Amino acid sequence: MTHKGQVEELQAQALAEIEKAGSAADLEQLRVQYLGRKGRLTQILRSLKNLPPEVRREVGQQANAAKEALEAALSQALTTLKEEALRAAAAREIDVTLPGRRRALGHIHPLTRIMNEICDIFQRLGFEAVEGPEVELDWYNFEALNIPPDHPARDMQDTFYFNDKVLLRTHTSPMQIRVMEKRRPPVRIIAPGKVYRRDSDMTHSPMFHQVEGLLVDRGVTFADLKGVLTEFVQQLYGPEVSLRFRPSYFPFTEPSAEIDIACVICRGLGCRVCSATGWLEVLGAGMVHPNVFEAVGYDPEEYTGFAFGLGVERFAMLKYGIDDIRLFFENDLRFLKQF
Ligand code: FA5
Repeated sequence: MTHKGQVEELQAQALAEIEKAGSAADLEQLRVQYLGRKGRLTQILRSLKNLPPEVRREVGQQANAAKEALEAALSQALTTLKEEALRAAAAREIDVTLPGRRRALGHIHPLTRIMNEICDIFQRLGFEAVEGPEVELDWYNFEALNIPPDHPARDMQDTFYFNDKVLLRTHTSPMQIRVMEKRRPPVRIIAPGKVYRRDSDMTHSPMFHQVEGLLVDRGVTFADLKGVLTEFVQQLYGPEVSLRFRPSYFPFTEPSAEIDIACVICRGLGCRVCSATGWLEVLGAGMVHPNVFEAVGYDPEEYTGFAFGLGVERFAMLKYGIDDIRLFFENDLRFLKQF
């Protein structure tokens, strides 16, 4: 083969290998192999001096051109490899321009929400919120509230007993006694909290929430009771809501009333929530019985007062149009997420 042919073949072979090289290390190896101190093209360039002058010039020019072409090809291949590596790295990195992933936010339980709303309204009307024990003494839950041991009214509330004297409170009314024992009139409190009864169906839960209210002072009348409760119900549901006061009986109030709200689920037409009556009983109330004042050492000739106890779940059912009280306690996220 001529010298010229040799250089051509070498160049073609080197360029093909450079094109196939997959890494910077491969390229470096090829550079050494062809252009290094003992490289194949370098050797040709070194042997030029042994050639006859008439071919030396031509082969020399060609070998120099081949050297330049290989250097250019090597540097181009290296640049391409680097660019590819950068692109691959960028693809792996976080793209800060993408929209973020939203964190799921928790919800305030509908009962907590309505409880807060109820307490806010009464606090604006000047009532102070107080709390007391759920495990209660018979004295506070019954006796001091004018319900002696053999009183038939005990059957009105099916009670969970620990023993003869200790029970789970069946209502928040014992807080009336606990507060009056410690304070002198005027008294104006609400007592929110959990209560327990052996009771379970669509509108009754064995654990539920009540808010007790008590206002005692000189000259308090039933008109004050009606005024406060009407104002409260209208603030909660809006001024157009219908409510009715029904005569009732509680041993610790005289006279007593139960207050119903027009059923919002059937709009008063009658459904399973209101037992087809069009009304749902939401609270009990009345004028504090003189025997209760005597149990706490208040003079019933000097003071009068009213008390009420409302069922928080019932208010929530009406407010949110929920027809089964048990939904509040199943903690089904599909239910809770709607609030
Ligand atoms: C009482 O508990 C009286 N302590 C209320 C009271 C207080 C009267 C102060 C007078 C003066 P009653 O048992 O009716 O009353 O319950 C009051 C309210 O709690 C009811 O109107 C109803 O809304 C709700 N309620 C009663 N039982 C349940 C239950 N098992 N589940 C859910 N809510 C209930």
